[in-house]
Amino acid sequence: MLTRRDFTRLFALSGSAALLPPRAWTLDDFDVTTEALPARRGAPDEKYWEAVRARYLLPREVIFLNAANLCPSPLPVVESLHASTMGYERNPSPSVRSGLMRDGREAARSLLASMLGVTPEEVVITRNTSEANNFVSSGLQLGPGDEVIVFSDNHPTNLTAWREKGRRFGFTVTTLQHVVPHPGAEYYLDLFAKAITPRTRLIGFTHLTSNSGDLFPAKEICAMARARGVLTLLDGAQTFGALDVNLGEIRPDFYSGSAHKWPCGPKECGVLFVNREVHDRIWPSVIGVYPGAVGISQKLEGMGQRDDARLVAYAESIRFREAIGRTVIEDRLRELSGYLIRELKKIDGVEVYTDPAPDRSANLVVFRPGALDPRRFATALATNEGVVATVRAGQDRPGLRVSPHVYNTMAEMEKLVAATRKYVAGER
Ligand SMILES: Cc1ncc(COP(=O)(O)O)c(C=O)c1O
Repeated sequence: MLTRRDFTRLFALSGSAALLPPRAWTLDDFDVTTEALPARRGAPDEKYWEAVRARYLLPREVIFLNAANLCPSPLPVVESLHASTMGYERNPSPSVRSGLMRDGREAARSLLASMLGVTPEEVVITRNTSEANNFVSSGLQLGPGDEVIVFSDNHPTNLTAWREKGRRFGFTVTTLQHVVPHPGAEYYLDLFAKAITPRTRLIGFTHLTSNSGDLFPAKEICAMARARGVLTLLDGAQTFGALDVNLGEIRPDFYSGSAHKWPCGPKECGVLFVNREVHDRIWPSVIGVYPGAVGISQKLEGMGQRDDARLVAYAESIRFREAIGRTVIEDRLRELSGYLIRELKKIDGVEVYTDPAPDRSANLVVFRPGALDPRRFATALATNEGVVATVRAGQDRPGLRVSPHVYNTMAEMEKLVAATRKYVAGER
């Protein structure tokens, strides 16, 4: 177990308190340990997930359901970041630096390649999904006569970014509208196929949208586009580190993700996959020194000095994830989200926007809490129940977005459902 001194140091390091209700937490509020994760025999049970949770600096009474936004890192990652940073600050010598570079960037690249089913030569280590998406929209040679197709539910970095660059470089951007509820994989495959024209150069879409939790038939859309000579940019911010994503099977031309979301990695680290077939089609957006060691990283990753300690921690976060297991994590996230969809639907007045079918959703649930104002509901949940979630205000699917992860327990899901039932009933 952590000593009080360890805890004070780590808690000061984690910075996670800013997201939590304003309270001074003490060691007694945590069940946290620095011991290695216990080996698992067979399928994981709730006891195992409690052990996973004990590797995160999450206060016992906080139900953190905001993975889609930013995730806490497990202790081995926090420790790694601390140890590497201290190692260099105490001894800022070239040999320490080159050790960090070896254990950081290139180690992370190999681990990422294996995790995503691709080669290290196809992996660029970015700062986040935003940067990765923009590397694509800024790096492709597009101009008058060209067209890019995007999806209305894309993040601004895969939507507004294309429109802005279209204005600048003269290509057109066609936006396809999302449908609520999820109309099914066939509908979207057909929608994208019919939208392609002889001028279409790229389709930019989202693997799983942060606005509704809708999952897209990525493999099918990429295959259809490939057969028509159209490139694909697949925004994986909500699947990278959450689902068992095999890019060797999905075969997009580009895939982006953030380490600080589902992989629970250090903040401000990301990934851009560039299929080897299109390495000659993309220009670097940043031209500088200290590029990556292999493949496309030699062209796109010359971003000057990097925080090598952070990249060592990035590698550690992937090891932690791999120790739990790719399919084990995906199954767990589907179990937690599936439970929420099923049980929230049973509450009179609650509308769950996310479709429970496994090919339409996975790890993110959006729901309207009856007639309750989503902001007031979220405030009540945070203040009285310790729930951290995202409010969706406005006209488009107003409500609450919850995104459970490996550090959540089934008991927490039950608490959220019970609290929702209580508040929604109280409104009437
Ligand atoms: C689908 C999608 N793409 C991109 C992003 C941007 O991620 P980041 O801020 O880590 O670059 C987000 C953030 O929530 C997202 O949901």
